Amino acid sequence: MKIFLDTADLSEIRRAVDAGLIDGITTNPSLLSKAAGAEGSPAEILKEICAAVDGPISAEVVALDADTMVREGKKLAKIADNIVVKAPLTEDGLVACRRFRAEGIPVNVTLCFSPTQALLAAKADATYISPFVGRLDDISHDGMDLIRQIRVIYDNYAFDTQILAASIRHPSHVVESAMAGADVGTMPAKVLWQLIKHPLTDSGLASFLADWEKLPEDRRVI
Ligand code: E4P
Repeated sequence: MKIFLDTADLSEIRRAVDAGLIDGITTNPSLLSKAAGAEGSPAEILKEICAAVDGPISAEVVALDADTMVREGKKLAKIADNIVVKAPLTEDGLVACRRFRAEGIPVNVTLCFSPTQALLAAKADATYISPFVGRLDDISHDGMDLIRQIRVIYDNYAFDTQILAASIRHPSHVVESAMAGADVGTMPAKVLWQLIKHPLTDSGLASFLADWEKLPEDRRVI
């Protein structure tokens, strides 16, 4: 499973890139608005993210009608070659998706909460479908069921739309997404760093180093 970081924060992105851990980035209007703050420009931030990451960068349109979505998406796609235009799972979003795809622009169809929505996104030739697992869990649905359902549907009909498990909130979501066959998991930086940590790794390392210290100093050479 590919790992994307769900953020527009450049320092978080650079740390993950330096560690060689991520394959791409997803942003959304909330994340870009937070990163831009009072003075920053979302387009400039996206440009920097695209330069920093060798992989797909999702950037979302904010219009609600297909014509304006297409106009916005084309502008976003001009920022860099690795931009993936993100469009919401609405009737207009699916129309826009088809139009982007006809022009060879990759599309991430976002805000997916049902298998029927995912089926229609695949039929609109979406490059990625983003089911939001955490937000489904929040309303007492099993978000992971949706990933499993979409996997079966896409495999039944050999759709090549990639399942991008989104709204991941904790490491178990990552494990379950990978087991359910999601192609990509996108997560906040906090979750990415949690994936590395295990208390037994920490205590094991501490005890190895304590034993090593028992050797006379002049023999502690590797
Ligand atoms: C995905 O593309 C979205 O930006 C994101 O995963 C939403 O996550 P949230 O539900 O934690 O805001």
